[in-house]
Amino acid sequence: MQNSYKRVDAHLSSLGYCTRSEAKKFLSKNMVCIESVRVFDVREKAYHNDITVDGERLDDESLLILMNKPSGVVCSHNDGGVLIYSLLPQRYQNRNPKISTIGRLDADTTGAILLSDDGELNHKLTSPKSEVLKVYEATLAQPLRGDETEIFASGELMLNGENKPLLSAKMEIINSTLVRLEICEGRYHQVKRMFGAVGNRVVALHRVSFGDFSVERLEPSQFRVIDRL
Ligand code: URA
Repeated sequence: MQNSYKRVDAHLSSLGYCTRSEAKKFLSKNMVCIESVRVFDVREKAYHNDITVDGERLDDESLLILMNKPSGVVCSHNDGGVLIYSLLPQRYQNRNPKISTIGRLDADTTGAILLSDDGELNHKLTSPKSEVLKVYEATLAQPLRGDETEIFASGELMLNGENKPLLSAKMEIINSTLVRLEICEGRYHQVKRMFGAVGNRVVALHRVSFGDFSVERLEPSQFRVIDRL
């Protein structure tokens, strides 16, 4: 874990507690301590791990969050509509560098999404080479016709407008209009386009897990900060 050494106002502002210009007032209103000694001078320097605010350790310098995304929020900083970030505490929303989603889910897709301010981790987990396993439950407009499992597993399915076939995907049938699909790519609208390619349509899509992170125990909109030792 990071433990940077810098001015108290720099710590507080990058972690979203206050802006740099509000730091003086923040120190007078809140008990900010370095190794248990209260500080009033924003210029004092300290290691992140030695600072407390009202008796609590500072938020981690780098955050990884797992959220159960509800329907109707967008994974973008600048599209219209309700942004997924508005579901996070204001302090997390104020952080610099910003917290961003690791990959995206469509506005109407629910389920597992990771968010982080760690650009390197984001790049690593979204790069085509990473092949992180994602498990989806898709509800379909039409009953399955019977050849979908084989087509998706073939490693030969070519989506419209692409020049490289999809990697093999595993489909498990729950009932004639509900399936569990495991994929290790993250192409644009991939699941909806896969079912489009076999003459069907996804009417509801839920991502159960992203890699090792499952939202089975999180309510919609609930999140948890992942411990990164
Ligand atoms: N595939 C889709 O079609 N939509 C998503 O949101 C995720 C995967």
